[in-house]
Amino acid sequence: MMTATAKTHTFTSESGAGTVEVGRELAAILHPPQLLLLEGDLGAGKTTLVKGIAAALNAAEPEEVTSPTFTLLHEFEGSWKGKKVRLLHLDVYRLEGERQLETLGIEELVTDEALVLVEWGNKFPSLVKRATGDIRIESCGGDKRKITVELK
Ligand SMILES: Nc1ncnc2c1ncn2[C@@H]1O[C@H](COP(=O)(O)OP(=O)(O)O)[C@@H](O)[C@H]1O
Ligand SMILES: [Mg+2]
Repeated sequence: MMTATAKTHTFTSESGAGTVEVGRELAAILHPPQLLLLEGDLGAGKTTLVKGIAAALNAAEPEEVTSPTFTLLHEFEGSWKGKKVRLLHLDVYRLEGERQLETLGIEELVTDEALVLVEWGNKFPSLVKRATGDIRIESCGGDKRKITVELK
């Protein structure tokens, strides 16, 4: 389910599978190149949502998308609306300080064809500044989630 006002889009989900579906659906409103911050508590469903986005881009099967908590960065090739897309999935939870973030070389990763999705990106002011939008996942009790997409 989706309701839209200006550039804010709201989705709801009632299960992990539902959030994968929301990921598939919300890919329709994306327009790479973009750098989006994924916000939400541990276990909110950030990685689960990326499974759906990756599937929509034909970049990866949902089971191939796992948490990049330790590897920091996963990269997939896909396409969107006839254009090649490089899906970059990051989790910067374990990074401390802008210096460590710099070692990832995000500047070089964000190319014309990139869709960059960063879990815990709001920890870093430099990422907040560069972000072209954010996706916020809030728990509404049990398995229910509210997913809000704000795009610049
Ligand atoms: N509505 C929901 N959306 C997403 N995940 C859900 C939902 N309900 C239950 N879950 C479960 O919560 C967990 C979310 O994990 P994950 O996507 O890795 O979260 P995060 O990346 O935000 O830490 C999964 O085990 C998933 O099955
Ligand atoms: Mg995660």
